[in-house]
Amino acid sequence: MRGSLFFNRRMVLRCRQIAISTVGSMKIKILLSCCIGFTLFALASRASDYMGWTNPNASVSRLDDPRKGYAIVMNTWKRYDLLKQSISHYTTCDRLNSIHIVWSEPNPPSDDLKKFFDNLIQSKARNGRQLELKFEINTEDSLNNRFKEIKDLKTDAIFSIDDDIIFPCNSVEFAFKVWQSAPDTMVGFVPRVHWVDKTKGTLDSYEYGGWWSVWWTGTYSMILSKAAFFHKKYLSLYTEKMPASIKEYITKNRNCEDIAMSFLVANATGAPPIWVKGKIFEIGSTGISSLGGHIDKRTQCVNRFVAEFGRMPLQSTNMKAVDSRKTWFW
Ligand SMILES: *[C@@H]1O[C@H](CO)[C@@H](O)[C@H](O)[C@H]1NC(C)=O
Repeated sequence: MRGSLFFNRRMVLRCRQIAISTVGSMKIKILLSCCIGFTLFALASRASDYMGWTNPNASVSRLDDPRKGYAIVMNTWKRYDLLKQSISHYTTCDRLNSIHIVWSEPNPPSDDLKKFFDNLIQSKARNGRQLELKFEINTEDSLNNRFKEIKDLKTDAIFSIDDDIIFPCNSVEFAFKVWQSAPDTMVGFVPRVHWVDKTKGTLDSYEYGGWWSVWWTGTYSMILSKAAFFHKKYLSLYTEKMPASIKEYITKNRNCEDIAMSFLVANATGAPPIWVKGKIFEIGSTGISSLGGHIDKRTQCVNRFVAEFGRMPLQSTNMKAVDSRKTWFW
């Protein structure tokens, strides 16, 4: 249509006009396709709710198969409000099977606290949700307690978590799926890194890198057990195989049990862990990781554990698992 308007004009002008109108219509086309694309996308995500595309496992029973659910093992210390808040949250997550609260305080859990959790579990049961909740009582106060073997665990997967961070259920479920495709590996939300300390001029000195190092380099070699999935077999491995000197060091220094677990799993698998993208909500005040001197202490742990293991088992990687339903354009 437009071309015919310029039919009698000079060639150059005409070509220019066509070129301009083509560019204009290209833009409109791109805009239009975007609009159509978004509309289809919106419709599809609506439709998927009706047609059951979102969760093919929804109707499959989870609790009879040890691979279908997970157990929460929560470390806690005298922060009852946080404990109540985070346990209440996780009981709303779909594939949670049981909850184990690792208790290392001198006094047993109060009646008040027990009653709160009894009520919580009972109200879930009334809605057809069978959950188990147990306090794992320890006499000794040690960070090794969080990796003590738990008898009668019905699931293979453990979600190890601190009481002061909350992950939305969909982040937890996604991490669980990633773990299911790599059940020997540690899978979680909080990555850390180690590297060779070149200033020491020897291959045997390492340095621990915190969050900013991971952020800067995109590299990690550990996943902290404050928010990680791993196989329950690592609890028995930790209990039976972790050198006593390392356990003593951890108890004494009240630190580094998470690094030790990373060493143990890496030593067993020869592979790096998997970092999963997830939303994190910190509900507590500052933890030890924000205190000064923290990195130095962690570096000491790494070097100490390397000496005990006789080698550096940690492997570095750059892979991050993301939920493909939430990424744009593949
Ligand atoms: C580390 O791996 C070696 C070789 O597989 C094994 O002999 C050793 O017991 C492991 N160490 C620990 C602490 O699990």
